[in-house]
Amino acid sequence: MSSPPLSLRVIGHNAGTSMDGLDLVHVHFTQESPDKPLKCELLRYGEIDMPKPLKRKVMHLIKTNTTSPEEISVVNVRLGEFFASAIKQFAQEQGFSLKDDVDIIAGQGQTIWHLPLPELFPGRDVSRAHLDMAEISTIAAETGITTMGNFRVSDFALGRQGCPLFAAFDSLWVNHPTKTRAVQNIGGIANFSVSAAGGDATKCFDFDTGPGNVFIDAAVRYFTNGEREYDKNGEMGAKGKVRQDVVDEWLQHPYFTHDIPKTTGRETFGDDTADKICEKMIKEGATPEDCVATITRITAQSLVEHYQRYAPKPLDEIYMGGGGSRNPNIVNYLREQLPNTYITTIDELGVPLGAKEALGFAFLGCEGFVGRPVMVPQHVESQREGVIGHIQPGDNHFKLRKNVVRFWGDWPEDNVKPTTKMEFSSRFAQ
Ligand SMILES: Nc1ncnc2c1ncn2[C@@H]1O[C@H](COP(=O)(O)OP(=O)(O)O)[C@@H](O)[C@H]1O
Ligand SMILES: [Mg+2]
Repeated sequence: MSSPPLSLRVIGHNAGTSMDGLDLVHVHFTQESPDKPLKCELLRYGEIDMPKPLKRKVMHLIKTNTTSPEEISVVNVRLGEFFASAIKQFAQEQGFSLKDDVDIIAGQGQTIWHLPLPELFPGRDVSRAHLDMAEISTIAAETGITTMGNFRVSDFALGRQGCPLFAAFDSLWVNHPTKTRAVQNIGGIANFSVSAAGGDATKCFDFDTGPGNVFIDAAVRYFTNGEREYDKNGEMGAKGKVRQDVVDEWLQHPYFTHDIPKTTGRETFGDDTADKICEKMIKEGATPEDCVATITRITAQSLVEHYQRYAPKPLDEIYMGGGGSRNPNIVNYLREQLPNTYITTIDELGVPLGAKEALGFAFLGCEGFVGRPVMVPQHVESQREGVIGHIQPGDNHFKLRKNVVRFWGDWPEDNVKPTTKMEFSSRFAQ
């Protein structure tokens, strides 16, 4: 008797470094049999704002870097409660049922600490470490759905950096027979993944280029006393003059000169750093707009420099996503500096700008629950494969496990390999 096909409906979610909110997707994964391509259909997308008091609490924890067990436990549970309520709100607003239409919930939680490169913290007694929080037991208990998290920690434990963690998914999704493509995400931190031309999704890699919006957001908060959280459509930056000497000096920072693999977060690029740049520039006669323009250019120029250093040549296309892809001061600079590359946004490929990372986590949830390792990208410290993610069973777990066992049938364990072919479709396709 042949095995039944796989069918997993997953809510993927992502709360990035910006802490603006939770991005959510509802995705259907299907697969005829383990030797056939995985099919991924994006059904729904939504965003739920992070409540301001919770954002302040998490920011405080990260910014001060002096905490108590009480503070950590409270933040973990409160994040779990917020994620659960956001997931319920997403389902309600979009008219689907968690019980009948969702098998798995998957996401990272909120990154609290990411320290993959201790050598960038000389004089401090630190080692490699990573922590995400948003208690998955809370999410599973409140929604009834089997919930997965901690993908980054699992990858970290296998000897890599746990971030950006999307090279495999991006490459499965954008891989092209004749074009070398990059997927550029500008969240709080910016990163890009490259998928080489030729139809072989395994030829991929990704890394963080440095700050995306974190500095820009911090500068805007600094000048508006926290009234505004970001430079909407780059309006403030567009009115200022870039201090090129400040940009060039900043791009000598050890993170930028460090070779790949590399990833980063607020530990290296925090609000305090941005505040200091602003203070110094103002003292030297700059306007707030000049500061925002200059800080925005640090992001834009670091992207260009990293493309020049690491992207294969020619790089045919860049697909941009994340909130920073709405900032023309970044996008226009990129277009100007990389005139031979077609630069557009990911919605051209059927993925809304804020949906890509949540989609990536939905994929990791599918693979993790099915029990498949994820493709290991190039330029990483360890080639060790492994199934990643922690699982908190929900009310539906028995049925779910049974379906997965039936899908595998008598498939030999030695032949359980990472997915290298995926067919993507989207209800958002243009
Ligand atoms: N219209 C816009 N103009 C400029 N920047 C924007 C716009 N919309 C969002 N952003 C920026 O994007 C950030 C959120 O991006 P997001 O991709 O959600 O990042 P993260 O993954 O870190 O949460 C905001 O903090 C803001 O800086
Ligand atoms: Mg966000």
